Amino acid sequence: MAARLCARHLLSTWLYRRAAQSQGRHYRAALCSELKRPLVIEEVASRPVGPQEVRVDVHFCGINFADILVCRGQYQEKPPLPFTPGMEFSGTVLETGKDVSTVNKGDRVIGVCPKLNAMAEECVIDQKTLWRIPESVSLQDAAVLPVSYGTAILALEHRAGTQPGETVLVTAASGATGLAVIDVATNVLRAKVIAAAGSDEKCKLAMERGAQFSVNYSQGSLKEAVKKLVGSGGVNVAIDMVGGDVFLESLSSLAWEGRIVVLGFAGGKIASLPTNLLLLKNISAVGLFWGRYQQQDFALFSKSMSSALQYCQQGLIHPHVGAVFKLDKVNEAFLHVIQRRSTGKVLLSLK
Ligand SMILES: NC(=O)c1ccc[n+]([C@@H]2O[C@H](COP(=O)([O-])OP(=O)(O)OC[C@H]3O[C@@H](n4cnc5c(N)ncnc54)[C@H](OP(=O)(O)O)[C@@H]3O)[C@@H](O)[C@H]2O)c1
Repeated sequence: MAARLCARHLLSTWLYRRAAQSQGRHYRAALCSELKRPLVIEEVASRPVGPQEVRVDVHFCGINFADILVCRGQYQEKPPLPFTPGMEFSGTVLETGKDVSTVNKGDRVIGVCPKLNAMAEECVIDQKTLWRIPESVSLQDAAVLPVSYGTAILALEHRAGTQPGETVLVTAASGATGLAVIDVATNVLRAKVIAAAGSDEKCKLAMERGAQFSVNYSQGSLKEAVKKLVGSGGVNVAIDMVGGDVFLESLSSLAWEGRIVVLGFAGGKIASLPTNLLLLKNISAVGLFWGRYQQQDFALFSKSMSSALQYCQQGLIHPHVGAVFKLDKVNEAFLHVIQRRSTGKVLLSLK
């Protein structure tokens, strides 16, 4: 305990000195200085922008399940301590490096941070990972697009090849990604959605947001409920974010040549795949790690961002913000998500 307090004191002192030594601007940031401990809000000094970099005045930052996992040391990427979490944001350009050609001062942008850092009033980021927001889209709506809609679009379009008229089953359906899947599947791809969620209120919200049917999986077998809705034929596509038994029941609900996309394990259990089921119905089981496309196939990654912005500009999709917290309430925002109380996207407002 004493060592912890001492480490925190040293960190605060270091940051304070950094801020004090700087002649320039300062900004507030959420810092994870110790895993599995509450974040602290600190004043830090701005750093100069590099030739390809852009300084952004952050207005909104999305809170993702992955941010919570990173701060617990349970995510695939483990940044060195201390770090500022936050993978996505919307804001306005404050300053551009000398070789920046894609955005100008004053532009409204969304950004994806490969090295986190977005839970702060200011973010310095490579121009390549910024996209301009069309005039008709608000900064709040735009902040919902990167992770949730980028993932929904690549899951449904690229990984599952969802066709008009097909039936899509989505689990954790009232969460940020779940509602984005419902939105894209129904309003862009013209598919029918069965929303599966953990309470009647969450099911109601998913129906209000476009799902045709809903199943409360806290009240019995998901597979049996889906069978009652679509018959023994099953669903064409399943998008699963819960894992464990919910994944297995989603897999068993698939039709001939069905596709299941693994997005995450919010329930905490990773299921083993009974491969005989794949063979019997010619099923494809695939994964999707959206953020990884940034390194592996940037063109596809960028297309998912442009598509999300375009669909939003065209009025096809309507991002749903469930709650907005101020920066100094970031730990309450994390709890809101961890305790399964959130619906839609949870945002931090930096203004
Ligand atoms: N692979 C990717 O690229 C990618 C991208 C985005 C998100 N994800 C993953 O997708 C999942 C959902 O992300 P999200 O941002 O949509 O999160 P979210 O808005 O916080 O939703 C998470 C949902 O998971 C469900 N859940 C089931 N068991 C849970 C538990 N034990 N604790 C907490 N929640 C539980 C809850 O819905 P119910 O109460 O209805 O069950 C909750 O609403 C996460 O696992 C995340 O890591 C993956």
